[in-house]
Amino acid sequence: MNRKWIGLAATSLLVAACGLVAAQDKKEHDEPETPLGKIMEKVQKLNGDMTRYVRNAAQYKKSQKDLEKAALEFAKLAKESKKFTDPYVKNVKDVKEPQKKWDDIMDAWEKTSKDLAAAVAKDSTTQKEAKELFQKVKNTCADCHTVFRVEKEAF
Ligand code: HEC
Repeated sequence: MNRKWIGLAATSLLVAACGLVAAQDKKEHDEPETPLGKIMEKVQKLNGDMTRYVRNAAQYKKSQKDLEKAALEFAKLAKESKKFTDPYVKNVKDVKEPQKKWDDIMDAWEKTSKDLAAAVAKDSTTQKEAKELFQKVKNTCADCHTVFRVEKEAF
């Protein structure tokens, strides 16, 4: 091979390598690679389903069983998530007893989910009541994210 061809081959290799790095970057950004991030993906999907289930009375009636199941799954996922404190708890600043705060919010998520499931299991519970109970569950997501979910770019 003459010099020109070697140069060309090297250039195209470099281009290919850059493409690979870019693809890798994108993958890391789009897909959660932490164990908690993976659970949260499931949580997000269930959250969307549940939001739909409580949207109106007709939908609620149709989805009551599914909603109960999803709420119980939430309680399970909350229990599972609780142990993944690292690195979130140690990274927060200006929070007193972050470990306790983490545990408390996880417990609140589990409890509000169980309350929702129990209410939905009863025929007397209305869609409006279920929606309010679901809102309490969602408040725990926000409570935790504002404290512990620091965007990666911030580090
Ligand atoms: C006690 C804390 C806590 C609670 C409660 C919590 N989350 Fe999260 N969530 C986190 C943390 C921490 C992350 C960042 C995980 C990571 O990327 O490593 C996260 C990430 C996420 C993500 C992004 C996942 C990704 O990386 O793509 C979604 C979506 C999400 N949570 C939804 C929810 C919803 C919906 C609820 C409530 C039903 C909820 N979370 C409750 C702590 C919590």
